[in-house]
Amino acid sequence: MKVTVVGAGNVGATCADILAQKEVCNEVVLVDIKDGLSEGKALDIFQKAPINLYDTKTVGSTNNYELTKDSDVVVITSGLPRKPGMSRDDLIGTNAKIVESVTENIIKYSPDTIIIIVSNPLDVMTYQAHITSKFKRTKVMGMAGILDTARFRAFIAEELNISPKEIQALLLGGHGDTMVPLPRYTTVSGIPINEMIDKNKLEEIIERTKFGGGELVKLMGTSAWYAPGAAAAQMVESIVKNQRRIFPVCVKLEGEYDIDDCYLGVPVVLGSNGIEKVIELKLNSEEKKLLEESRKHVKEVMSVLENL
Ligand code: NAI
Ligand code: 2OP
Repeated sequence: MKVTVVGAGNVGATCADILAQKEVCNEVVLVDIKDGLSEGKALDIFQKAPINLYDTKTVGSTNNYELTKDSDVVVITSGLPRKPGMSRDDLIGTNAKIVESVTENIIKYSPDTIIIIVSNPLDVMTYQAHITSKFKRTKVMGMAGILDTARFRAFIAEELNISPKEIQALLLGGHGDTMVPLPRYTTVSGIPINEMIDKNKLEEIIERTKFGGGELVKLMGTSAWYAPGAAAAQMVESIVKNQRRIFPVCVKLEGEYDIDDCYLGVPVVLGSNGIEKVIELKLNSEEKKLLEESRKHVKEVMSVLENL
């Protein structure tokens, strides 16, 4: 199995490192436009192999897509990250061009691959990759829900002073301030979350989750990479190993949740064909209202892309 990661910056290099370290595939190709960056990072990851004991081949490439030929999965992280004061949507002009040109190069050498987008604004960059590749929806998806849910789970674990492993949670909608955490589908080792945390505290955690990306941008002057890189690698693993795990993933909705032609995060089964199944939850009226707000927001940004 061969996986290409485009963008050897913070998120891309972290993702490549985890894929190599966990031996998710035989070969990881790291591509970047900056001269030598991907070669250097691929070499560094390879030189860690004798210490951490893995034998994944890691290859770097400065914009030479021939090396990506016949990739089973491609993760696209190339593009600008936001700086303090910017929203993810502010990145659209620059990142749309980057995602478009990268996708063109990728499909030239791997016409049957599965594409996972990470670049922001996430939902709309996934749409861009779909427009460019013309791939069916099962093969173009975006990573955001695993990250946003992980933030929600981590904050709950911190509040309860228990292991993050015990928290299961779900979140819907776009990767932005309109994301929809779902307390009704959140449990602590099977115990409903509302039996463990009072309502006001949970509301606080939900708000912190929605702005979790911004909290890190404020602290670091750029956006996060450890959890995002790990989240993208987890999606790759479920596909490459046909694990059929259920994750919230950004996918084109075609009538599910009464939404058509919009890219939004919903739970899906991820396997060797990509999106194996979109899972439709029975939402209550409040959850439907929040999802509709998220849909409206993503649709607005999709139309900005269409008019660029
Ligand atoms: P970074 O600046 O560290 O890395 C981006 C890399 O992309 C750079 O090395 C740059 O040279 C490369 N690049 C730019 N244009 C390229 C092209 N045409 N071809 C190949 N490589 C190219 O940024 P970072 O922190 O890795 O973030 C990457 C993207 O991921 C950003 O758009 C960021 O907003 C997004 N992001 C999305 C998350 C999500 O949950 N979906 C989470 C974290 C970041
Ligand atoms: C995040 O949520 C910036 O989208 C990125 O960390």
